[in-house]
Amino acid sequence: MADTERDINRATVVGAGTMGSGIAQVLATAGIEVDLVDVDTSQLLRAQAAIERSLDRLVQKGSLTARARDQSLALIRPKTKIDAAIGHELLIEAVTEDLTAKQAVFAQAAHVLPETALLASNTSSISITALASAVSGPERVLGMHFFNPVPVMKLVEVVRGQLTSEATTQAIVALAQRLGKTPVVVNDYPGFVSNRLLLPMLNEAFFTLMEGVAEKEAIDQVMKLGMNHPMGPLELADFIGLDVCLHILEVLHRDLGDDKYRPCPLLRRMVAAGRLGRKTGVGFYEYGGRRG
Ligand code: CAA
Repeated sequence: MADTERDINRATVVGAGTMGSGIAQVLATAGIEVDLVDVDTSQLLRAQAAIERSLDRLVQKGSLTARARDQSLALIRPKTKIDAAIGHELLIEAVTEDLTAKQAVFAQAAHVLPETALLASNTSSISITALASAVSGPERVLGMHFFNPVPVMKLVEVVRGQLTSEATTQAIVALAQRLGKTPVVVNDYPGFVSNRLLLPMLNEAFFTLMEGVAEKEAIDQVMKLGMNHPMGPLELADFIGLDVCLHILEVLHRDLGDDKYRPCPLLRRMVAAGRLGRKTGVGFYEYGGRRG
């Protein structure tokens, strides 16, 4: 069998946050057995509840049968460790945006999973080439960048590191298509394509607010009504997480060495105050008790 036709029937997803649970869900809906791994058992419980809510939504609008919902749920096994006994063909990591943490997951996976297993990262900004340097067989490492909410967003940005093989890229392109997504292949440079374009736009919205050009609602309305964006930039930044936005801008600023990526001081101040957006209940907007 050619590598591009490699069957992926069992996968491990590490990190049960919003992205990890969404990724586990779309894999399971495509009939793939998934170990969803997180050291924090309460996070695993939250992930399971979020997956159930999301699948219920799909059943309610008729895009999934109740039977397919139950089958998908049965395919997801919550775990607190990567299981050495299972010969999974793929691991996708969606842990915190920290090079050392991600490298540790890959190093552990390379130790316990088959040598042929593909190692994908859902990172939004960390270099795939640097991540691969922690692993024997860097040609099997690449970026598989999903977008939030994972069950809804069509794009998977497939990021080729310096040493990623063509067979690995094509296997992940085929997998993304099997998940009903549209894969777009890009090369490993800071921010890839998605965040190199998105974050400067969000950053400019932060400066626009800081300089008093307009109120936050007005800035968002201009982009929603004038450019047909589903969310305005400040609303979207709250949705992504202001800490995540700051981290990506810092990577762009440092690794591209250009001041046009300089994070807005208002963004830094909000992150320092712990106003991170929806996940903390307050960012540019207030969300009451809402954290979703
Ligand atoms: N699971 C299943 N279905 C979901 C869902 C979920 N978690 N969330 C939303 N949906 C479905 C709804 O059921 C609804 O379906 P129908 O249209 O078929 O009825 C549809 O999605 C729209 O949802 P809502 O009606 O609740 O709300 P909305 O119309 O305001 O859309 C949104 C919500 C899809 C989030 C939309 O506002 C949107 O597309 N926003 C922009 C999101 C975006 O840009 N995401 C990328 C962020 S960047 C990123 O993730 C990566 C990074 O590296 C930073």
